[in-house]
Amino acid sequence: MQVGFVSLKDYRSYEDVELRFRPGVNILVGPNGVGKTNIAEAVGYTSTLNSHRVAVDLPLIRQGAGQAVIRAAAIRGDRQISLEIAINPGKANRLQVSGSPVRGKDFVGLLRTVVFAPEDLALSKGDPGERRRFIDEVLIQRSPRYLAVKTDYERVVRQRTALLRSIAGTRGATARADTESTLAVWDDQLVATGGALLFGRLSLLDELAPLVAQAYALVAGGKSGTVSYQARSLAAFKDHDGLPREVSELEDLLRQELSDRRPEEFARGVTLVGPHRDDLTLLVDGLLAKTYASHGECWSMALALRLGSFELMRGLGDDAGDPVLILDDVFAELDSQRRAALADVAAGAEQAIITAAVAEDVPRVTAAQTFTVTPGNVTSDG
Ligand SMILES: Nc1ncnc2c1ncn2[C@@H]1O[C@H](COP(=O)(O)OP(=O)(O)OP(=O)(O)O)[C@@H](O)[C@H]1O
Ligand SMILES: [Mg+2]
Repeated sequence: MQVGFVSLKDYRSYEDVELRFRPGVNILVGPNGVGKTNIAEAVGYTSTLNSHRVAVDLPLIRQGAGQAVIRAAAIRGDRQISLEIAINPGKANRLQVSGSPVRGKDFVGLLRTVVFAPEDLALSKGDPGERRRFIDEVLIQRSPRYLAVKTDYERVVRQRTALLRSIAGTRGATARADTESTLAVWDDQLVATGGALLFGRLSLLDELAPLVAQAYALVAGGKSGTVSYQARSLAAFKDHDGLPREVSELEDLLRQELSDRRPEEFARGVTLVGPHRDDLTLLVDGLLAKTYASHGECWSMALALRLGSFELMRGLGDDAGDPVLILDDVFAELDSQRRAALADVAAGAEQAIITAAVAEDVPRVTAAQTFTVTPGNVTSDG
């Protein structure tokens, strides 16, 4: 798959810019702060409706403007799909596919991308939430129906937690019994949506883990890098391989755990059970990356997670082909062996978009198209 035409109106530093990406490798070059990442971010946002840099949308709208608009053409085989996103402050995005309004679940994944960026160091070093976001984003791109599963699950956890908190403050047996019966309803929903999300993540990990291990060997040679799922809230099943792969069995486990931890949840007023507490275990040569790995090894691990996702999506066997590989400011961080390995992957992709402040940091790739980025403008060099 490829992205062809892209137009940004009042997006980040751009008032109005248009560019046309080519098949193969596209390199955006320009000094620091000129707007290279803004372009890469806009393409990634068109694919996932998430920025790889910020958790909220407001910074995406150009200072002083009322709305940002991204238009892009996704090219799948011989099919071209025109995508449009209007980002409005404090309101839901307005999304259109080929001129017709659609909802998020019918929009995400029409353009498929894998973004690797400096922020990804947090995949190795950061909190579990970073790794959960990673796994859910890959899951949703692979199977967009999980967008609804995730949204529903997060709503259930929020509301259930609010109820637990109110119970913690409830005096009197009758009032407490009333709230507890309401809690049972939320328990059912937590088990149903949490079981579905857990199932999705585990099935994804079964496919992703071997690809991540291969990618780690490719970029870092010599040592091994692995990823596995850590169901932190299922006390008896901390080991990924020991977890069942049947939705009903996962639901039973969640229900049992809820019952076991009921007193603790009441005491703390927090939902302690469910995939919102889970994590991925990243190991370099058997040691936890976060605590033992070197800076470069943490980078390699993050890169392996992204390249593993790239391989997973390219193997989905639908009409999308390869996802667009977006490499934002990453070559400067890598040693020459890793640079060469990454450049090879980019050169073998249907399309790659690379940003770099210094062109020489990117190994020479044949038939690459270079774009020069100046403040507010992008020009093609050929
Ligand atoms: N909402 C916004 N409105 C106006 N300008 C913005 C907005 N968001 C970001 N910018 C500007 O965009 C510029 C940063 O652009 P970007 O991150 O794309 O730079 P870059 O070319 O990738 O630089 P580097 O090489 O340092 O990574 C900054 O000068 C920043 O002030
Ligand atoms: Mg940048």
